[in-house]
Amino acid sequence: MTGEATGAGAARGPGEGGAGWGDGRAHPDLDLVEVWERHAAWWQQGFTGDADVEYRDQILPIAARQLAGAARVLDLGCGEGQVARLAAARGAREVVGVDVSAAQLAEARRRGGGVAYVRAAANALPLASAHFDAVVCCLVLEHVDDLDGALDEAGRVLRPGGRLVLFLNHPLFQTPGSGWIDDQVLDPPEQYWRVGPYLREDLTVEEVDAGVRLPFFHRPLGRYVNALADRGLYVTRMLEPAPPPRFLAMAPEYRDAAAIPRLLVLRAEKR
Ligand SMILES: C[S@@+](CC[C@H](N)C(=O)[O-])C[C@H]1O[C@@H](n2cnc3c(N)ncnc32)[C@H](O)[C@@H]1O
Repeated sequence: MTGEATGAGAARGPGEGGAGWGDGRAHPDLDLVEVWERHAAWWQQGFTGDADVEYRDQILPIAARQLAGAARVLDLGCGEGQVARLAAARGAREVVGVDVSAAQLAEARRRGGGVAYVRAAANALPLASAHFDAVVCCLVLEHVDDLDGALDEAGRVLRPGGRLVLFLNHPLFQTPGSGWIDDQVLDPPEQYWRVGPYLREDLTVEEVDAGVRLPFFHRPLGRYVNALADRGLYVTRMLEPAPPPRFLAMAPEYRDAAAIPRLLVLRAEKR
C-alpha cells in the first residue's frame, strides 16, 4: 500500500503522517516560531514567485476574487507577502502584512509591492480595532496553536460588515494520516482515499521535504465554523475547489484523487 502526499501549500506528508500529540501539549522539541525562521527560504523557493502551481492557478486567483473591492486589507501570517502584494496590485489602498517570522518579513520588504509589514503573532496584533475591510489568512491557522486568540484578533480588527477569508488545508480530507491508498492486497485491487482521525484535535510534525519538519494542527471543520460564529463571524461562502488541472497532471495518484479537495476556503462576514 502506498499513501500519497496531500494538502495545499506546504503539503502534508505521505500517508504515514507524523508523530502525534493529541492532548494539547506543545510539541516537546519544536518551537512554533523558530521553525518558520529556519524554513522561510525553503517556503519562499517552493511556494512563491510562481514556483507552486496551486498558488499560481488556484489560491492567488481565489484570493483576488475574495478580496475584490476591499480598500483596507490585512494579510495575517503573510509570509513573504504574495497575497498582500496581490491585494495592493488589485487596488486596495492600504495593505498590512503581519507575520511572526523575521526572515519572512525581510524577504517581503525586499519584494516590496506597496505593503506595510509588521512583525507580530496572530493572537496579539498591534493594530487598531474595526479598521480593515478584509482580513485574509492563507494556509496559516494550521500552524497556529492559539486558534481562538488568532480569531479574536482577526474579528477585532475587522470593521462591522468586513470579511475574513480563510484558506485551509481541507480539514476533512487532509487529516493526519490521510492519503491515496493503492491496495493491491484486496482482490480485485482497490484505490481509495484514506481519511485519518478526523474528530481528534491534534498536532503532528510532518517532514514535508528533506530536513523540513513543520507543525500541523488538525481541527475538525466544525471547530473553525463555530469559533468564527462565536465571534460574530458568519460563514457566507465555502469553497472546496478540485485541485487545478496542472497540479493533477503532475502524478497519476493526483489524477486518481481528483475529486478529493485539498483546499478549503471560508469567507465569513462580521455582523
Ligand atoms: C504556510 S506559510 C503561508 C504564508 C502566506 N500566508 C502565503 O500564503 O504565502 C505560513 C506562515 O504563517 C506564519 N505564522 C505561523 N504562526 C504564526 C503566528 N502565530 N502568527 C503569525 N504568523 C504565523 C509563518 O511564519 C509563515 O510565514
